[in-house]
Amino acid sequence: MEKEDADLIGETGLQRKSDVIVIGAGAAGMMAAIRAGKRGRSVVVLDHSRAPGEKIRISGGGRCNFTNIHAGPKNFLSANPHFCKSALARFTPTDFIAMVERHGIAWHEKTLGQLFCDDSAKDIIRMLLDEMRAAGAALDLSTEITGVERTDAGFRVSTGQGAYEASSLIVATGGKSIPKMGATGFAYRLAEQFGLAVLETRPALVPLTLDPGLLASIAPLAGISAPAEIRHGKTAFREALLFTHRGLSGPAILQISSYWREGDEIVLAIEPDIDIAAQLKAAKQLNGRQSAQTALGEVLPKRLAQFLVEREKISGNMADLPDKALLSLAASAQNLAIKPSGSEGYRTAEVTLGGIDTAALDSRSMEAKAVPGLYFIGECVDVTGWLGGYNFQWAWASGFAAGECA
Ligand code: FDA
Repeated sequence: MEKEDADLIGETGLQRKSDVIVIGAGAAGMMAAIRAGKRGRSVVVLDHSRAPGEKIRISGGGRCNFTNIHAGPKNFLSANPHFCKSALARFTPTDFIAMVERHGIAWHEKTLGQLFCDDSAKDIIRMLLDEMRAAGAALDLSTEITGVERTDAGFRVSTGQGAYEASSLIVATGGKSIPKMGATGFAYRLAEQFGLAVLETRPALVPLTLDPGLLASIAPLAGISAPAEIRHGKTAFREALLFTHRGLSGPAILQISSYWREGDEIVLAIEPDIDIAAQLKAAKQLNGRQSAQTALGEVLPKRLAQFLVEREKISGNMADLPDKALLSLAASAQNLAIKPSGSEGYRTAEVTLGGIDTAALDSRSMEAKAVPGLYFIGECVDVTGWLGGYNFQWAWASGFAAGECA
């Protein structure tokens, strides 16, 4: 089919034909459209939202943590940890950085390999739209999808604005997180319609909540942030921990939330690079007349020190405290087991864990093995990255993989 055909309204005025339809103008969908368009395929991208890339716009605090230079398969959760390897290897952080630089977008590394725009996440959206335009891909926004069916020639997508037809259909409608922003679970329903398995979905990269008793006891700590190592079984993340009026948050908690399940314990080690037990013993030697709260307040935020001292029911001068009491005080800061009661759910989760079973997809192309021409990419697939630019890297890489073949 000629490229211009994508811009023609069908004879009845109701049908638009192209080589490729992409549903979802998010990170993955736009990348797929760019790649397919550059290959000379005529592409139409459909989205029910009024604007493309809404999650890009709000990401990374408005500066979009668009990739992570360390991104590799180890940074992703999936029932099949090998599935993401092929796509990640064929479109790397370096490839995305090259695109960002071609568009003159200034960026910086914040921490742990996380790359952010210097100015605004909107620069990334603008870049993707410019690339789509250059690749000849059309974008139809505010388009409600009312049905998808298989035809002899490929697929027909019915919408409020008429039908679209194409030989390839790429589904890039994301997961369930932040329904307020248009997340629908559409991809999972469509996968099921075509007989693909969908694995259990759960909110991930999400703050954890506490039961009312525990929450009341940590209420005075709301707003305190500290470096921490949070452990769940053998998995551990070292980043900031934030106490909130709902429970626990901060990057370290968001990371561990992807591994945590209801009923599980997590273990908090605050200031993991400091040997608090040794510090308390040294403080006892140096100045036995100070209180444990003062000594602990030298290494931890003062309100947190007060909380832990009261929790351990410790009072009096350091000189009067047995080393055993100091050790248990240190352990309360660095080996504190907590059983969260739940998570804040899809309302605030950055991503959805689980999704379309990778066993149903070809890892090179993202094409459904049983339904030639049908592709699933981005967050709707059972590949979920850590916090730190990994999820966008998966969106770019899986989008590129599908755009290369569709
Ligand atoms: P995405 O959700 O981006 O796009 C899906 C598109 O499909 C949307 O445009 C939507 O409107 C459309 N759609 C949905 N249902 C539809 C339907 N029924 N019909 C038509 N269209 C439909 N990641 C990262 O790497 N770095 C970061 O800094 C951040 N920051 C961040 C902050 C916040 C607050 C959130 C919620 C998430 C992040 N993320 C992130 C995660 C990242 O945003 C996410 O992984 C990607 O946007 C996923 O890209 P997709 O293209 O798969 O879906």
